Amino acid sequence: MDFSPLIIGAMRLGRWGANFSDDQLEQYVNECLELGLDTFDHADIYGDYTTELSFGKLLVNNPGLRSRMKIITKCGIKMVHENRPAHTIKSYDTSREHIVHSVENSLRNFNTDYLDLLLIHRPDYLLDPAEVAECFTELKNAGKVKAFGVSNFSADEFDLLDRHFPLVTHQLEISLLNRDAFMNGTLLQCMSKDIRPMAWSPVGGGLVFQPSSAPVVNRIKRASKQLCEKYGCNLDQLLYAWLLRHPAAILPVLGTSNIERVKSAKKSLDIPLDREDWYVLWSASTGEDVP
Ligand SMILES: NC(=O)c1ccc[n+]([C@@H]2O[C@H](COP(=O)([O-])OP(=O)(O)OC[C@H]3O[C@@H](n4cnc5c(N)ncnc54)[C@H](OP(=O)(O)O)[C@@H]3O)[C@@H](O)[C@H]2O)c1
Repeated sequence: MDFSPLIIGAMRLGRWGANFSDDQLEQYVNECLELGLDTFDHADIYGDYTTELSFGKLLVNNPGLRSRMKIITKCGIKMVHENRPAHTIKSYDTSREHIVHSVENSLRNFNTDYLDLLLIHRPDYLLDPAEVAECFTELKNAGKVKAFGVSNFSADEFDLLDRHFPLVTHQLEISLLNRDAFMNGTLLQCMSKDIRPMAWSPVGGGLVFQPSSAPVVNRIKRASKQLCEKYGCNLDQLLYAWLLRHPAAILPVLGTSNIERVKSAKKSLDIPLDREDWYVLWSASTGEDVP
């Protein structure tokens, strides 16, 4: 499945962030599509279970829109919230019953009859790979979900489920503020399975743009200054270029709700970061030269 090279994250578009009105959301989505960015990353829980619904309203009012975009959503986290009164403790649930229920709910919210991609949001300690695979097969055969992946799994957890059902992506936190995926085998695994990983919080949730006393943030800012001059780019573009330089063909999931920043991010696709400059940023992040 082809996702756009930058994915539009929906986590901060609704109640957990910008709280877009219907008109603002419509304008934002249309502008993203005009930029050629057609993949939208949701989760059932975003906006306390409300963001899928707002997006769905947009699709009802614009019937031609659905076929022009790809919708990713996630399931498996049960949050305690008044919108889910049956949940008594925050927990994970990858039972067949919960996955099917969550997918049916997402389909209703989005006013669509299919999801392009469903991700299991977090590893569930009680996950039974045979049960999940059977459920995925059922949903796929019914045409309700086209493809499946996971998020925040370890390489072993990914492998176990992937042996039962072929997963098409792994969505991980990857940025200069979280380098785990480079070292824990998850990125290597994506490469060996020839699937493209998705990077959430690609600019560290925006921390690098704020005044900070964290040494790592200040090291990254200092190192970036010269590189931004060299490449004629902004800090955000440099941070995306750093992810894009990796041979795993990472797909950053943008968290901004500012369309000018989406336009700016797109330019990072054309920044050919040198190997050594990649390591300048790596070392700024770790605080030391590589061994
Ligand atoms: N799978 C998972 O477990 C998981 C977890 C978290 C998130 N996600 C997905 O990943 C997406 C991205 O995550 P994220 O929002 O944490 O990512 P992020 O892009 O690293 O952070 C977004 C934040 O950074 C700010 N920002 C971005 N560019 C900026 C700039 N140039 N100057 C100043 N501030 C800037 C944004 O503010 P503005 O809006 O003002 O630009 C926003 O507050 C989410 O929308 C969601 O779809 C997945």
